[in-house]
Amino acid sequence: MGVRSLTLKDKLNRPLKDIRISVTDRCNFRCFFCMPPDKDIQFLDRKELLTYEEIAKLVKILSQLGVRKVRITGGEPLMRAHLENLIALLSDIEGIKDIALTTNGYKLAQKVKDLKEAGLKRITVSLITLRQERFVSMIGRNVDLEEIIEGIEEAKEVGLEPVKINTVVVKGVNDDEIIDIAEFCRERGLVLRFIEFMDVGTLNGWNMEKVVSAEEILNILSRKYPVEELPKKDESETSLRFKFKDINLEFGIIASVTKPFCRGCTRLRLSADGKFYTCLFSSVGHDVKSLLRGGASEEDIKAFVENLWLNREDRYSELRTQEGVKNLPKVEMFRVGG
Ligand code: GTP
Ligand code: 5AD
Ligand code: SF4
Ligand code: SF4
Repeated sequence: MGVRSLTLKDKLNRPLKDIRISVTDRCNFRCFFCMPPDKDIQFLDRKELLTYEEIAKLVKILSQLGVRKVRITGGEPLMRAHLENLIALLSDIEGIKDIALTTNGYKLAQKVKDLKEAGLKRITVSLITLRQERFVSMIGRNVDLEEIIEGIEEAKEVGLEPVKINTVVVKGVNDDEIIDIAEFCRERGLVLRFIEFMDVGTLNGWNMEKVVSAEEILNILSRKYPVEELPKKDESETSLRFKFKDINLEFGIIASVTKPFCRGCTRLRLSADGKFYTCLFSSVGHDVKSLLRGGASEEDIKAFVENLWLNREDRYSELRTQEGVKNLPKVEMFRVGG
């Protein structure tokens, strides 16, 4: 075997550096912007899911192709039993420098210690409102918000720092809470990221009128706090970075709609049923499970990923308004993770 080039670049010269893994498409919430409660959703059967061993095998191969960062997502990843076992397997892979988890925070307080001990480095928890009634209406389930907050605090307690908070902002729904949520995070030293409501999937009734732009969010924050923009840490960052100068705390705005960041996108996605997606807005996945289960060698799988990445030219967010792009079929976000 010849020496392989370490950096695999796609057609837009973007290296492969991150893998986002959806471990389940199920969720115990039904957020209206992701999995609306009135929609009938077909979930995967257990036997269709990749096992933790299969996922780890793929991540090992990906690490040899340059992947350094793993993010575990869903659906809600903590719905998958013993997620700490997967994290332990991933922690043992040479080359993987960062393992992070995105969760809705349900029953998180009871789980953070095991996750941390298994090797989880960082955690991001969604927090879309601080009002109990609104929470129930936004997530379509009767969950006690106080429990989520406990989970966030406990994550900090066990040292999963920095704990990040994801807040999707939807006009007329929770945009009146931008300052309240900022206060909450400032008091606790949490790294808050506001996310522009995106047109992911096909179910959430998105339109531009429901988007609160990064600019509007920043204006609201700047009127109340001294805010400074921070330079990019990394080309592949999703977030515009800022800090609250008075307390030297970072926050971010993920402006996928008004300031797309496809140019630096180094993320590959793996669905729970073993398909690679080269973009959050892809219409098709590339089946690697049948390779794994059909006895393909590591080299075969490596060649499969290489071929996929070398031919990648996705940049949906930069093209979203173009005719012929906006009406293409799209995968649902809960199948490929956020
Ligand atoms: P760090 O590893 O801490 O930088 O996290 P991250 O920025 O990857 O954060 P996270 O996984 O929490 O993602 C935050 C949100 O950004 C997601 O929930 C999505 O809404 C959005 N997002 C993440 N990756 C992409 C992407 O590749 N494209 C688009 N359009 N949005 C993305
Ligand atoms: N637009 C923006 N962010 C979304 N998320 C889910 N659906 C959307 C959407 N339509 C966010 C969740 C969570 C992460 C997984 O993705 O709030 O933080
Ligand atoms: Fe579940 Fe997250 Fe989707 Fe909400 S956004 S329904 S918590 S996967
Ligand atoms: Fe990457 Fe696609 Fe998101 Fe652009 S829209 S940043 S290419 S995942």
